[in-house]
Amino acid sequence: MILVTGGTGLVGSHLLYELVKNNQNVRAIYRNEEKLESVKKVFSYFTEDSTSAFNKIDWIEADILNIPALTEAFKGITHVYHCAALISFDLKDYYDLRKTNIEGTANIVNLSIANTIKKLCYISSIATLGNKEDNSLIDEDTFWNPETDNSVYGITKYGAEMEVWRGTQEGLDAVIVNPGIILGAGFWNSGSGLLFKKVQNTIPYSATGTSGYVDVKDVVQCMLQLMKSDIRNQRFIVVSENLSFKDFIEIAAKYLQVKAPKKQVTPFLLQIGWRADWLKSFLTGKPRSLTKQTAATALTLANYNNQKIIEALDYAFIPIEKSIKKVSEQFLKEQ
Ligand SMILES: NC(=O)c1ccc[n+]([C@@H]2O[C@H](COP(=O)([O-])OP(=O)(O)OC[C@H]3O[C@@H](n4cnc5c(N)ncnc54)[C@H](OP(=O)(O)O)[C@@H]3O)[C@@H](O)[C@H]2O)c1
Repeated sequence: MILVTGGTGLVGSHLLYELVKNNQNVRAIYRNEEKLESVKKVFSYFTEDSTSAFNKIDWIEADILNIPALTEAFKGITHVYHCAALISFDLKDYYDLRKTNIEGTANIVNLSIANTIKKLCYISSIATLGNKEDNSLIDEDTFWNPETDNSVYGITKYGAEMEVWRGTQEGLDAVIVNPGIILGAGFWNSGSGLLFKKVQNTIPYSATGTSGYVDVKDVVQCMLQLMKSDIRNQRFIVVSENLSFKDFIEIAAKYLQVKAPKKQVTPFLLQIGWRADWLKSFLTGKPRSLTKQTAATALTLANYNNQKIIEALDYAFIPIEKSIKKVSEQFLKEQ
């Protein structure tokens, strides 16, 4: 039986649908019954009978920090997809990020070893890779640089990867995927869903920085195929294309039928922006939307090499404009 963590999130829900569609025996953990509705919504994108697909999953209430509940969830499990994580770039979430991402992953790794799991797939991030000074392509061997001003999210995803590598030293077979910004429908108040929301609300500035983007379907397919393969104890960048934020915003604006911003953000505006955001958050208690580190990425050129996964799986990625179009159309339908 397969165990999925983070099944109520963007990647986990799309992964669960593929597993159920392929008639796999699946157990998934959840923390909050309300969040199960998002899974049903995602399933309804693919099938009219979303309830019966949803009911094929053995749902167990468990937090990845709750070892007794997780121990129950691991009974009879042979394969694990670990998608649960806290995503936040806010410094004030650092303690929670460390708990969920590092300690939570250590729990999954330890129980995988204790239950002699055949293989673990851990979803990491491009945030755990280093940057290239000369703007050449970043690959799986571009190692983390602790000297740079890393985001709190990146630090804890890196710590989580270290837990997985530690597990492999203790006999666990694992694969790690490092996706770029994942595009998928259904979660409009978090991750890339928020980007679509911001573009629709006419974002005032675009930015020249670049990053890697990938469709959630591609992330799921790469995870499934890596788990089926003989590949073990390796990590893979999962990015379809590298795009500037300006290009992403312009393509999304086209499909969301709104105007793209004409002005480019400058380093000076970003310096003011993240400080103003800090003050706003301090005065109102609202979560940060622009931190010093996320402001820096707006102008950073980070381009990723996807050759390793393409060659390992003979994989063809969905062109990113096609993904942006599809997600934008679903976004408009749900407004
Ligand atoms: N989205 C992206 O652009 C992106 C890019 C690269 C890598 N990733 C990585 O991909 C993975 C999935 O991301 P996503 O976009 O699907 O995130 P998401 O939509 O925010 O979902 C996160 C999932 O983790 C669960 N979770 C969080 N803390 C937990 C805990 N303590 N115990 C049990 N479950 C917990 C959440 O459960 P609740 O529903 O109960 O909150 C939810 O199911 C993460 O590891 C993320 O770091 C994401």
